[in-house]
Amino acid sequence: MEKLAGLYAEHIATLQKRTRVILERQGLDGLVIHSGQAKRQFLDDMYYPFKVNPHFKAWLPVIDNPHSWLVVNGNDKPKLVFYRPVDFWHKVPDEPNDFWAEYFDIELLVQPDQVEKFLPYDKATYAYIGEYLEVAQALGFTHMNPEPVLNFFHYHRAYKTNYELVCLREANRLAVLGHTAAKEAFYAKASEYDIQHAYLMATHHAENDTPYGNIVALNENCAILHYTHFNRHAPATHRSFLIDAGANFHGYAADITRTYDFARSGEFHELIVAMDEHQIALGKALAPGKLYGELHLDCHQRVAEVLSRFNIVNLSADDIVSKGITSTFFPHGLGHHLGLQVHDMGGFMADESGTHQAPPEGHPFLRCTRRIEAGQVFTIEPGLYFIDSLLGDLKATDNAQYINWKKVDALRPFGGIRIEDNIIVHDSHLENMTRDLKLD
Ligand code: GLY
Ligand code: MN
Ligand code: MN
Repeated sequence: MEKLAGLYAEHIATLQKRTRVILERQGLDGLVIHSGQAKRQFLDDMYYPFKVNPHFKAWLPVIDNPHSWLVVNGNDKPKLVFYRPVDFWHKVPDEPNDFWAEYFDIELLVQPDQVEKFLPYDKATYAYIGEYLEVAQALGFTHMNPEPVLNFFHYHRAYKTNYELVCLREANRLAVLGHTAAKEAFYAKASEYDIQHAYLMATHHAENDTPYGNIVALNENCAILHYTHFNRHAPATHRSFLIDAGANFHGYAADITRTYDFARSGEFHELIVAMDEHQIALGKALAPGKLYGELHLDCHQRVAEVLSRFNIVNLSADDIVSKGITSTFFPHGLGHHLGLQVHDMGGFMADESGTHQAPPEGHPFLRCTRRIEAGQVFTIEPGLYFIDSLLGDLKATDNAQYINWKKVDALRPFGGIRIEDNIIVHDSHLENMTRDLKLD
């Protein structure tokens, strides 16, 4: 990972510059960024898995250390207050000595409540960025998560540094190892639970390392959009398999979905082929200057084309769209920004002050309405599902007459299809990180 170290200086310089600009605009002297705290379960002495403040991991690849702090002002070398307790119960992190360490003045913090001596004395001109407002208040901060500051960082976070692009490529590489193993397990008739474990083994991730809860669905379960159950028992028949699973590298996420059919032939197979072609085409349609929302509408047109061509709906594609029927089969958004967070922030921002750009009417679940520009990273994830509750709603409308219910019923046992790639928009070309890794 020598390459990563070589790009890190530029990454820090970019964050410093962003910090300088917004501090000056807000009349602040600096930011104090809190990694977070371990959260205890109610009435228990057990802790939830720690999830770091994304504004903290934006600066350095430390994602597992609560009670750590950054003090930044955009000019001086950033200060890192690194939590390193004396503790014989838990693993104590090593003293920082990785490639990033030389970019920080590092102080070691032995007890969380001793942080004050490392923070600026006059808190009035510093803003606290973090989740624990009561801690910030007790320390004497009056500015906490100022919206203009957060909006500014969220907006600019969409433009990835070269360091971040390397991290995202590596996250994709890991995820593809997992997807390949999961696919093999499916064709070996494994259970959802066993497929999940094949995935985790191949990515070298423990369950809490993944950037989101993996979706590993067989047969009808492919229709449950956020299916995060893992059935221990293999079904009697393997028909279809939808896996939406990511990986994490230095705090950056991959978010990849594939759908397979066991028979490798038949109508559901043909449907996957059709959706795959549209998914590739939509990925290629990303272009600087376009609005992401336009692509989402294009996707509805494409889903309609499939519904018409496969005689699932007895209407032309245009009529299927104009009657709003596609939303039954494709009820979520085409995709989102990807980065430090799976659904990276800033997708609805028209400008750096955070002006909200709402999704088109009738598309409340679209997570990105932003203008596409070079340096941004998106998922493209069209889907086509047979969801009982939505089909039930459709059946109660006038549009029910256009639906080939016999065909719908034949396809319900397969659940549905989603195919999702992670794509970088460059000035002169697109980089589909997922397909480049030969995950088809
Ligand atoms: N895995 C979450 C998503 O695709 O948005
Ligand atoms: Mn996904
Ligand atoms: Mn996604």
